[in-house]
Amino acid sequence: MKKTHQPQVLLSAERIAERVQTLAKEINLHYAGKEILLVSILDGAIIFTADLLRLLDSPTQLDCLRISSYGDSTSAETEPSITGSLKSDLAGRNVLLVDDILDTGRTMQCACGEISGLAPRSLRTCVFLDKPERRANGFEADWVGFTIPNQFVVGYGLDYAGRFRELPYLGTIEEA
Ligand code: IMP
Ligand code: MG
Repeated sequence: MKKTHQPQVLLSAERIAERVQTLAKEINLHYAGKEILLVSILDGAIIFTADLLRLLDSPTQLDCLRISSYGDSTSAETEPSITGSLKSDLAGRNVLLVDDILDTGRTMQCACGEISGLAPRSLRTCVFLDKPERRANGFEADWVGFTIPNQFVVGYGLDYAGRFRELPYLGTIEEA
């Protein structure tokens, strides 16, 4: 299976920027000056995190969790596993967990399980994208950028086999 065509634009860079601003406003209202420990799930959430982080009003610290489930395919064949761990002490912190996309929900469930065990004061979740049709476990995020249909998407940090993360827009790719 090869997916080498140029992606079709689903969400332009301008639409993404507008939505991220609105999301940040909602998150700012919620935290209202309380300190945040933003935990970003590598690698996919890196661009979304960078944009969101710079719009947060609260003093915010950053930590990253690396979780892998996809190989070079477009469907998760394995249970997610944590392959890179947190550096911070999460006890008593307001943790905002950020990922690129909520698909089956297994990655977020795995991350929430890990974080909950570290005694944070609070745990909230924010995803750039939500594909509810694919959900395997009923997981819902507190903040969602865009809800999209069941299509494989790339760009704005999301990859297909390591490609397309650098695209400033979100695109769909078709099987060649
Ligand atoms: P989940 O564990 O099935 O919810 O999958 C979440 C992870 O799978 C995300 O962090 C993404 O890295 C990856 N993923 C799911 N759907 C897509 C997609 O359409 N494009 C790129 N990556 C995806
Ligand atoms: Mg990911």
